[in-house]
Amino acid sequence: MGMLIVANWKMHPRTEREAVALARASDAAGVVICPPFPFIQAVGTSLRKAALGAQDAAPGTIGPRTGEVSIGELKALGVRYVILGHSERRAEGERDAQIAEKVRSACAEGLTPILCVGEPASVRAKGLAAARDYVKRQLSGDLKLVGSPKSKAVRFFIAYEPVWAISTSGGRRDPSTGQRANETPADAARMATLIRSLATSRRLPVRVLYGGSVNAGNIAPFLARPEFSGVLVGGASIRARDFKQVLRSARQ
Ligand code: PGA
Repeated sequence: MGMLIVANWKMHPRTEREAVALARASDAAGVVICPPFPFIQAVGTSLRKAALGAQDAAPGTIGPRTGEVSIGELKALGVRYVILGHSERRAEGERDAQIAEKVRSACAEGLTPILCVGEPASVRAKGLAAARDYVKRQLSGDLKLVGSPKSKAVRFFIAYEPVWAISTSGGRRDPSTGQRANETPADAARMATLIRSLATSRRLPVRVLYGGSVNAGNIAPFLARPEFSGVLVGGASIRARDFKQVLRSARQ
């Protein structure tokens, strides 16, 4: 299996027309496009090579949950992947217990979860050991309800996204230089190893992605690390030109 490049469009673009144009420009094998809910159907019908993903989903199929979109409904629209536990959803108050339900439901319905974990700046400021403990706690909460899969095929992705490295976050200052700090591929890879071993100890085979300000200029050293099976891209996925460059750099 090649590298997976997940495009998380968040609340972009403005119109269905723009969404379809961006989808066509981004349509490539190994890509998962995660549009906002209102554009899922139109984007889904315009993709030929890329897979369709969602940015979140409520567990189950139908039920009394005003304003939610269920995993079953998304599946019926051709969605194959679902981002769960993104830090922006956690910032809205989503808890590990809710994420665990969603993860369980996605697995039960046959959608591939892309579970996001990662420490905030305040935790990373205390050092890598503190960040590891934080991610360990997130994973033990979020994976609590998944059993080991019957098939050997890996249908579970975990994206390590240090919250402070996300392009729209406030970032983190390097204490020695005072400059905005970026995650290094080496530190991220160490976290990926921890994530994989924690999942494996639950008999859950996973592939690990990296996310956080990934763009055409910095993607190569992350993809060069054997610990990573791909990346999750936010800001650099919402303009066709930027995303094409990301794909070009990923192929090199
Ligand atoms: P970014 O977003 O690439 O803009 O940092 C990644 C994400 O939030 O998933």
